[in-house]
Amino acid sequence: MSSSDFAIVILAAGKGTRLRSNRAKVLHRAGGRTLMEHVVRACQPLGAKKIFAVVGHQADDVRAALEPLGVEAVLQQPQHGTGHALLVARRAIGNRVKHVLVLPGDAPLIGGGTLRSLLQTHRNGNAAATILTAVVENPAGYGRILRKSGSTVAAIVEESQLSEEQRTINEINSSMYCFALDKLWPALARLKPNNTHRELYLTDVIAVLSQQGDTVLAQVAADAQEVLGCNTRAELGEVDRIFRTRKSAALMEAGVTIRLPESVVIDPDVQAGEDTLIESCVQLLGKTRIGARCTIRTGSLLTDAQLADGVTIEPYSVIASSRIDSGAVVGPFARLRPDNHVRAGAHIGNFVELKKTVMGEGTKANHLAYLGDARIGRNTNIGAGTITCNYDGVAKHSTTIGNRVFIGTDSALVAPVRIGDGAYVAAGSVITENVPADALAIARGRQANKPNWAAKRRRELAAAEKPKKPRRAKSGARRKSRPRKSARRR
Ligand code: UD1
Ligand code: MG
Repeated sequence: MSSSDFAIVILAAGKGTRLRSNRAKVLHRAGGRTLMEHVVRACQPLGAKKIFAVVGHQADDVRAALEPLGVEAVLQQPQHGTGHALLVARRAIGNRVKHVLVLPGDAPLIGGGTLRSLLQTHRNGNAAATILTAVVENPAGYGRILRKSGSTVAAIVEESQLSEEQRTINEINSSMYCFALDKLWPALARLKPNNTHRELYLTDVIAVLSQQGDTVLAQVAADAQEVLGCNTRAELGEVDRIFRTRKSAALMEAGVTIRLPESVVIDPDVQAGEDTLIESCVQLLGKTRIGARCTIRTGSLLTDAQLADGVTIEPYSVIASSRIDSGAVVGPFARLRPDNHVRAGAHIGNFVELKKTVMGEGTKANHLAYLGDARIGRNTNIGAGTITCNYDGVAKHSTTIGNRVFIGTDSALVAPVRIGDGAYVAAGSVITENVPADALAIARGRQANKPNWAAKRRRELAAAEKPKKPRRAKSGARRKSRPRKSARRR
């Protein structure tokens, strides 16, 4: 089959009733992508003339997801089964191709290599249809392959129509097939909805072809995992687990250590360099790129983060769309909202939140701070509890802090404001005006000590609390004093 003589049709119109979801089945995600995207990616390198997808349930959403992937949607409304889906696509497929490769939209583990070899078998065998099958331990839920002779197929029998004897067949239909169109269209026209769902089953085409003496071949997938369908949440979970395991294995192969790989979640586009350590329960999502010799400690969640070499992310840090340069340390319990640049050797400590902020080389914010819309220079120290007051209720404003600055504990920097190089800000200051380089800014109430005030206060309180003497106390019979109110409360 040359690149010009076949089209691909992905069946994606079904509701996915068994998922119990409002979302179309093919838009559910596993391994960091929608099921649909995985299937399309497997198809793209095959060189088909055109890739179509039959859409129906939530057609607009599915179509929108297909557009950036370069796949043309064909509407099947209503959905009368997999055979009907292909009939609906007939006009779009047209006469320009001789064969069609049909794939279900809910089997995302399929690999391009397996599909290429299926096409090859179909071409070499000059077949009317070639089915990708798999031999599995538990065939429940799948259509079973009834073999005719060694390599040819008599029929596919759906689970609901199996005889007791057929139930033990463990070769299943993957729903991935190649058809010669001149054989497919007449056979499809002969289908009848002879099943409980009153649907046209594409699987029934196989018996039609076989009975009229056409060649129907079966190719057994080398890796049965590749054909797993996602019809239930349990299957979706299992397929997601397989994708994650594959990704972790690929990173380990590339020199990354992963502690308890079954506990980490790593998206397909994530990269990590040699001798990086990823501890348990870490999630690395989106386009996160991690350099060599980094440590990502337990419980951290990185989305679209870019880490240079030798970065340490301490436990339970949450980082989104930020750049972190070599030797920087972030966390534990740090939160980097989008658009930060943490320069080489900077430290972001526990309970520090950053947003749209540049932390200069060697600058430290080690505890309890909010730094938003700030540009902070080199070797500056941001004291515990420092807040950049960047929002005035209407607009955001920026804070600029120079090199070698010392911001004392619990300072509020009311933006827009600039702190010059080498300046000091005294602890507890509320800074509303620019601070010149090398100056000390103190902006807080002046302390007044009142000598002996506390001792005097205690004497006054004691006097007020003293129990009053009873007015006519009888001699010899001292009245028991009642416990004081405060003592009773305890
Ligand atoms: C189907 C096969 C079964 C096979 C299994 C492999 C049929 C009748 N059965 O069963 O032999 O073992 O796949 O995973 O084909 N779809 C449409 N339009 C429709 C109905 C379905 O586009 O009218 C799409 C679905 O969105 C899905 C695909 O076709 O992507 C397969 O449908 P699904 O309902 O998942 O079929 P299975 O029961 O899994
Ligand atoms: Mg299915």
